[in-house]
Amino acid sequence: MADAVLFVCLGNICRSPTAEGVFRELLKQHLPGNSIFIDSAGTTGYHAGEQADSRAISAAKKRGYDLSKIKSRQVRESDFEKFDLVIAMDKQNHTNLVNLAIQTGNEQHVNKVKLFLAYSQQTNYQEVPDPYYGGSKGFDLVIDLVEDASRGLISQISA
Ligand code: 4NP
Repeated sequence: MADAVLFVCLGNICRSPTAEGVFRELLKQHLPGNSIFIDSAGTTGYHAGEQADSRAISAAKKRGYDLSKIKSRQVRESDFEKFDLVIAMDKQNHTNLVNLAIQTGNEQHVNKVKLFLAYSQQTNYQEVPDPYYGGSKGFDLVIDLVEDASRGLISQISA
């Protein structure tokens, strides 16, 4: 059982806020009354303090997810104390998180770092593609992939 889950991408304005919002909603539907703490962060602080990208907010809203209250922040070493799972959207961010976990000096922190699409049940994608420089289809794909992996993670958590 995970008590706290952190989703991480590069800027924390597109993929990981989408993961946070979708996972929160699906978890509420599948495990009503659960007290799992959910947050998201970026491996960079380029967009710290900003709302999610407006394209991510509107793509999510069309599918019934609210990202409007999420603010970007950078991941920090103390996140490895607070969270049971630190889940990366792609392999580059996974590598950066493993390196940050090593810096904390606690070897067990490395085991908390996961690749989100490893929980997928349907897709063959291994990474959530960065939609930042593309069109709106990229943001819809992010939601498809994030919903699939969220369902897989929820079945694992509730098993
Ligand atoms: P994210 O997308 O990592 O999914 O939030 C990006 C956001 C910003 C940038 C790149 C990717 N950027 O280069 O500013």
